Amino acid sequence: AHLIAGAKISNLAISLVLMDFEGKQVAEHELALDKTVFDTDALAIVLGDSLAALTGKIGRHVTDVSGFGLGIAGIVDASQGFVHWSPSLDRRNVELARLLEQHLSIPVFVDNDANLVAIAEQAFGRGQGYSDFIVVTIESGVGMGIVIGNELYRGTRGCGAEFGHTKVHLDGALCRCGQRGCLEAYVADYALLREANIAGSADGAPQVEALLEDARRGDPVAKSIADRAGRMFAMGLANLVNIFDPELIILAGAQMQSSHLYAEEVIEAIRGSIVQIDKAPPEVVIHKWGNTMWALGAAAYALDNVSERALAG
Ligand code: BGC
Ligand code: NA
Ligand code: ZN
Repeated sequence: AHLIAGAKISNLAISLVLMDFEGKQVAEHELALDKTVFDTDALAIVLGDSLAALTGKIGRHVTDVSGFGLGIAGIVDASQGFVHWSPSLDRRNVELARLLEQHLSIPVFVDNDANLVAIAEQAFGRGQGYSDFIVVTIESGVGMGIVIGNELYRGTRGCGAEFGHTKVHLDGALCRCGQRGCLEAYVADYALLREANIAGSADGAPQVEALLEDARRGDPVAKSIADRAGRMFAMGLANLVNIFDPELIILAGAQMQSSHLYAEEVIEAIRGSIVQIDKAPPEVVIHKWGNTMWALGAAAYALDNVSERALAG
């Protein structure tokens, strides 16, 4: 039986899964990396080697894989597998799907990472049974996937759902997208580290985990940094509720470094700052699946495309 692969490049790791054509996961693999930004050749080699290792682990071969889905942060034209900009790539305007296809010799489908989490939530997770919902992912950056009428909404240029780059501050902090005042620049791990440095509370190279641990232990500086990020995040989410009025918001993609954003206080703050009406606010759920979820969404996306191509051919 043929296999489908899915992968997600995250901060310092690549997660890979193999699934069968019924959508059942058959193998997974996480590879630690020593870099966060790739040139495309290096990326193709890492992905190719990881795929070979993972198929080998279950006694199979890369040629048994009928399609490969890849989730990557940034602005992706999914229809072409074209990456306009990604914080994970060292250059803009990359025909990533085509380059990877040449290297791997299998069909490759690339989409924005958070969009693929929305697909995973819809297929296997908390979005099952909902036709309209929003997924917000919190990892090294802030991502989003919007499902409207059971379909993923991408925008006309594929640039939609970039929640992390909604503006929350005039002339504010510098974001990794190059703009100032983005939400992400106030809630992401790099934002916390910047604030810790400004407050002078970090010795040497601070770690987000350590900062959040200090906050939990009640260190006043760490706590105020984490709390403020949580309140900024809640403000952004309240804006989403005010715009979309969705049935459900899923906060997904959690890692340890996001505990400040997965707090009951954050959910309370959302409820407190949406327009108040005599109806219950949307459901907000926290879904910590870890990295595998992103890769599963990528595989599900590839499966969909492979099946469509088979039908069309
Ligand atoms: C990127 C998004 C991505 C998110 C999560 C943001 O900085 O702009 O495209 O989905 O990080 O990785
Ligand atoms: Na997205
Ligand atoms: Zn930005």
